[in-house]
Amino acid sequence: MNRIYLDNAATTPMDKAVIEAMLPMMESNFGNPSSIHTHGREVRNTIERARKTIAGLLNTSPAEIFFTSGGTEADNTAIVRSIEDFGITHAITSPLEHHAVLHTLEYMAKKGKIKLSYVELDTKGHVDLKHLEELLRDNPKTLVSLMHGNNEIGNLLDLTVVGQLCEDYGAIFHSDTVQTMGHYRHDLQQMKIDFLVGAAHKFHGPKGVGFLYINAKSKITPFIHGGSQERNMRGGTENVYGIVGLAKALEIAYAGMDEHRKHVETLKARMIARLSSELDDVEFNGDSDNLDKSLYTVLNVSFPPSEEADMFLFNLDINKISASGGSACTSGSDIGSHVLTALNVSPERPSVRFSFSKYNTIEEIDYVVDKLVSMLKVTA
Ligand SMILES: Cc1ncc(COP(=O)(O)O)c(C=O)c1O
Repeated sequence: MNRIYLDNAATTPMDKAVIEAMLPMMESNFGNPSSIHTHGREVRNTIERARKTIAGLLNTSPAEIFFTSGGTEADNTAIVRSIEDFGITHAITSPLEHHAVLHTLEYMAKKGKIKLSYVELDTKGHVDLKHLEELLRDNPKTLVSLMHGNNEIGNLLDLTVVGQLCEDYGAIFHSDTVQTMGHYRHDLQQMKIDFLVGAAHKFHGPKGVGFLYINAKSKITPFIHGGSQERNMRGGTENVYGIVGLAKALEIAYAGMDEHRKHVETLKARMIARLSSELDDVEFNGDSDNLDKSLYTVLNVSFPPSEEADMFLFNLDINKISASGGSACTSGSDIGSHVLTALNVSPERPSVRFSFSKYNTIEEIDYVVDKLVSMLKVTA
């Protein structure tokens, strides 16, 4: 068995068709898109075609799509600029957000720009919508930043319900959609949302490129100052091959979405079923074993407490399995997962996030479960 890659929530292998689409941009179409000569104009047209492709897939206007260096920059832009441009004094988020959101909001709170509230969660880590409404009712001029799919435990948020609440209370709504972009359909004509983000490397595209959707009703000023690129919204020469790869990857993701989803759901269901029946004291973190309420690409498993907990991922790696995770933070330390800590998962239990893609097979899942069973039998 070749090395098995089950860390697709961290990043995905690139689709060969994406690489092929990018190559001409490195080999021959090298012009600077800001140049007015033919070399430049050709590349400018390519960028605008890519923007149109993405906008078409998300059912919105190309004027609302802005290319960035990835998910982190898109999140930072939406959060920092909306707070400053719209006179936001209060933000609501959850303790389970990615650090691209949490650290940005914490920074803005530390600077005295906002008061930051954390919405309460239920025992599975889902947002308590009643508490969200209370926070919105008590605080006008609020920014809500809540992710669509959690990158560690996979929990999904109902963007329709939260979008409606934000509209009812006049709040700005940003959602970190990095883990759902390319895996779920986003129809921006139907959604009540101000900002949404994507990162190409999470759906078989290149690293270092992503985009921010900015609702035409929620115009903000630039986060990165410089030239007039991105219609004066983001200075800096465009990552042209990245942008081409991003659009191609999203196109491929949408074309094969239903088929890939069905395949990956089968892999996840198989792993849940085998782990539950063949191992004692296995738990699933958050709601990740609930196929309806979690990302089909993510399964976060908590294994029985063991003295070898620290070695768990290392042992998987030795057995040719790449996965990630770790345990909750021990008291007084911030090493470990802030998500598992917020969910009160015991730091004694090794937790592993297995995350799947269209390239994984049922044979790989069986191999991984067989290895887990033999590893845990040895340490028992
Ligand atoms: C939920 C979420 N948000 C943001 C990011 C950051 O994206 P990028 O790596 O493109 O900056 C990631 C990537 O790990 C993520 O999973």
